[in-house]
Amino acid sequence: MQPQNDNTLTGFAQQHHIEGLTQQSLQAINNGESDYSIEKARQFLHFQQRINKELLQHRIITSNAYTAWFERGNQNLQQIKAFIVQFSVFSNQFLIAQLNKMIHADTLESMRASKEILANEMGVRFKTVKPASDVQGSTEGTIEGSTFNFKAGHFEWLYNIAKHLGMRFDEIGQPRHGTRSTLFFCDELIRLYGGDNYQVSQAVSYAVENWAAAGFWGQLINGFKSFNKRNGQELPLGFFVWHDQLESQHAAHTQEELEELYFTQHLNEDEFIHYGNEMLDAVAVFWDGLNEQRYELETVH
Ligand SMILES: [Fe+2]
Repeated sequence: MQPQNDNTLTGFAQQHHIEGLTQQSLQAINNGESDYSIEKARQFLHFQQRINKELLQHRIITSNAYTAWFERGNQNLQQIKAFIVQFSVFSNQFLIAQLNKMIHADTLESMRASKEILANEMGVRFKTVKPASDVQGSTEGTIEGSTFNFKAGHFEWLYNIAKHLGMRFDEIGQPRHGTRSTLFFCDELIRLYGGDNYQVSQAVSYAVENWAAAGFWGQLINGFKSFNKRNGQELPLGFFVWHDQLESQHAAHTQEELEELYFTQHLNEDEFIHYGNEMLDAVAVFWDGLNEQRYELETVH
């Protein structure tokens, strides 16, 4: 079948009262692909309203007290060090969650998708047609046929910041450096995001993507920039800038992925919302922990 142009699909959506779906889904319905129907589209749009109300309004998405404070850029040295330590613990534990997600994949395609994220995290840059201008490399493309570089490991970008702050390698990244809240968050990530229940990990991925796209990377970058300016420092911000760029690209795909999941799998709507919230609750524990810690370090000189 011929691909329809956007105007035709918009008209098609209006005619059937299914406005709000991605072009990808509209195209599939219009093409009469199996699993795709107008009835299912209406069910999805109803589910999307539930998601908007019952998941995406989670307080850690709508208002994060720690990153709002961080953005103002008034951190003292102890506070910024403490942040790097907790983030480096999370960064390492994320590898375990991602490895488990890869192992629990139930198709070759999803195993490769998870493996790609893991390999990139450890130092295999994405390859694109146009070469990336900075050391971090591109945020899109594939790792297939790409070369491993120690310096491209995300943890090493964090270590670069730590070095600038006068910290040793053995002062970051280990579970023993994590606060109880950070470790709780990491354990939940391993249990839910890396767990063996496909529907749970899909719900959790959707929640995590929406958390990551909520703007906290930008807030952290702004905070670091003011910190640098105020202290005459040059902390290298590659880690944060790269993840910020990655997320702005992901956001567009997240909705397409959710719709594909809804149309092609038998999704349990209540469970999706339940597990998404369970993950976001753990995300909130992480940021709340950082927020308590920064109050404790307020008076330290
Ligand atoms: Fe990363």
